[in-house]
Amino acid sequence: MRVLVLTSGGDAPGMNMVLATLFVRYKSNLYAARAGFRGLINNDITKIVDFHPLHYSREAGTCIKSSRCKAFETEEGFKKGLENAKRFDVLVVLGGNGTFNACKKLAEEGIKVVYIPSTIDNDVIGCDYCLGYHTAVMSCVNTINNIMPSMDSFDRCCIFEIMGRDCPRIINCVNYKRPCDYMIINKKDVNYEKIANIIKNKHDLGQGSAILLKEKVIKAGTLTKNLNKIEPDIEIKNVNVGYVQRGSKPTDVEMDYARGFAKQAIEAINKHKNSVAIMYTNNQFKFCDL
Ligand code: F6P
Repeated sequence: MRVLVLTSGGDAPGMNMVLATLFVRYKSNLYAARAGFRGLINNDITKIVDFHPLHYSREAGTCIKSSRCKAFETEEGFKKGLENAKRFDVLVVLGGNGTFNACKKLAEEGIKVVYIPSTIDNDVIGCDYCLGYHTAVMSCVNTINNIMPSMDSFDRCCIFEIMGRDCPRIINCVNYKRPCDYMIINKKDVNYEKIANIIKNKHDLGQGSAILLKEKVIKAGTLTKNLNKIEPDIEIKNVNVGYVQRGSKPTDVEMDYARGFAKQAIEAINKHKNSVAIMYTNNQFKFCDL
């Protein structure tokens, strides 16, 4: 049995643990395409042992590298990838929504694919939990908790810019676990008078304030400039949490999910003839046809 694994799109904490768990099971029969579908197209494929998966098992990122491969969306690129995929009995693919669609296309062409939802955004439809989400949330919470004592010491305001693409799950969960003073999720939340008032009230109480800003809504610099026009005497700092969410060491909870997804992938390879997505819903793993 020859198994090929690849990671595609934004890396997600926990991916390396999945790779290590698969390696322990398949050893020299496990191959990796370097940098996702780019490696599949270019036949840049080697035994995964060359990437030292056990060494990286507890680290974030992906030791087999990732890419956002536009070429795989072209007819020519897809064809090349498909031909290389045919040399393996099964493909295990980790990634987000774009990756999910690519897996479906491969499955339609008769490739046996096992898809593992992996994206910090946690926005794959039909899945309650995508690998990487817990670490992404906790890294924000920890960042805020580690910065606010300093902000409080100067009665400053801090704007924390949070990744999550178009999905508000991360920012909402961060605010639930570590309540902040205001959240900007949509353009309509950019109410300068209201935000300035919140910052001022906290400042007058002798406290710092924390504002959460979802990426892509408005530039943190623009927000700061306009708030400073209303409250010129309050210092406002910007912290882009961004890649810290992706690069943070996977939490223990993440490790459990990663091992769980990997074990399910092994079961799917052994027991299922067809391509499947391993979805986590209602607190359990499920196989869904691709
Ligand atoms: O999809 C994961 C994600 O981290 C998003 O939250 C973010 O918008 C995007 O990827 C950033 O992508 P890149 O690494 O290409 O800058």
